[in-house]
Amino acid sequence: MKTPPILVTGASTGIGNHLARYLAERGHTVFATVRKAQDMESLGQIERVIPLQMDVRDRQSVEAALLKVMETGLGLYGLVNNAGVGELGMFSTWTDEDLFDIFNVNVFGPHRVTNAFVRLIIEAHGRIVNIGSQGGMISSKYFGPYTMTKHALEAYTVALNDELRPYQVWVSIVQPGGIISNIGNNSFPGTLAHFERAEPPFRDEAQQVLAGFNQPDEPHPDEPESASNRKPSSPEIVSVAAYDALFSEKPKLRYLVGTHWEGNRVINALIQKLLDENDNPQHNYSRDELIELLDRHIEQRKTA
Ligand SMILES: NC(=O)c1ccc[n+]([C@@H]2O[C@H](COP(=O)([O-])OP(=O)(O)OC[C@H]3O[C@@H](n4cnc5c(N)ncnc54)[C@H](OP(=O)(O)O)[C@@H]3O)[C@@H](O)[C@H]2O)c1
Repeated sequence: MKTPPILVTGASTGIGNHLARYLAERGHTVFATVRKAQDMESLGQIERVIPLQMDVRDRQSVEAALLKVMETGLGLYGLVNNAGVGELGMFSTWTDEDLFDIFNVNVFGPHRVTNAFVRLIIEAHGRIVNIGSQGGMISSKYFGPYTMTKHALEAYTVALNDELRPYQVWVSIVQPGGIISNIGNNSFPGTLAHFERAEPPFRDEAQQVLAGFNQPDEPHPDEPESASNRKPSSPEIVSVAAYDALFSEKPKLRYLVGTHWEGNRVINALIQKLLDENDNPQHNYSRDELIELLDRHIEQRKTA
């Protein structure tokens, strides 16, 4: 099939919505999963988009969606695990249940959906694309739980790819920086609640963060990007990477997407991590050995 069908979870807004439209415009049937009736209706108006109700936390709704896909008789070539949530807050304000909830959507969700659809994807020798985050490689205060889920999704992707390669299925992860979407609005009530419930000795710091929420957060177009002047990108860059992961002859395992400033931040953090790991009594490569190793890996990639 020239334009095989793809399922995208969390297609009501943001990245998932952009990707569903992007794929449909290129001739693919898109099973676009949403949770709300109004989103079923609006997506149903797009040519080649078949909206399906699915809450990735709910096994029954995942299985019902599988049945609907099977009823079409089209099979399934690609699955994009995009649905996700992104509440922030200091760890002391996260209960066990809160932590379970964010993992339930961002990690157990992709696992649940993949396990439901994997046989169809194997039949098609298809692709699975997980929408991770640069937060799957770096972490910082208040982003702890969210970045834990994205680190987990990164590990999940690597192991799943290893398991499915013998079945001619490739698995990739797209790791965006800041992307214009609804995630901030959708997560804001939860984020607010976390900072509001902070107790001493964290309360003063939480109050400062809450005061910051009242300040306008528009990026300064004339100033370069920085930690305090973030410049989120269009969801288009995620769709382009996901498209490559779905259809290129040799998909990459990881797709880092975002601004130059963000990429720089990730690469520096990874080098720092490498140096941390290298700083131990059992093995400690010298500078020359590290550079030789790096050169060897660069050569290996050229011939892979
Ligand atoms: N925006 C960014 O800066 C950014 C950066 C890196 C990674 N990401 C990742 O990109 C993905 C998409 O996020 P986005 O930025 O496009 O945010 P978004 O606009 O808030 O979209 C999130 C989507 O996930 C859906 N969703 C949430 N909980 C769900 C559940 N339990 N079951 C099924 N669907 C659920 C939402 O549906 P409802 O409308 O029904 O809530 C919505 O369709 C997420 O995995 C996010 O972590 C985003």
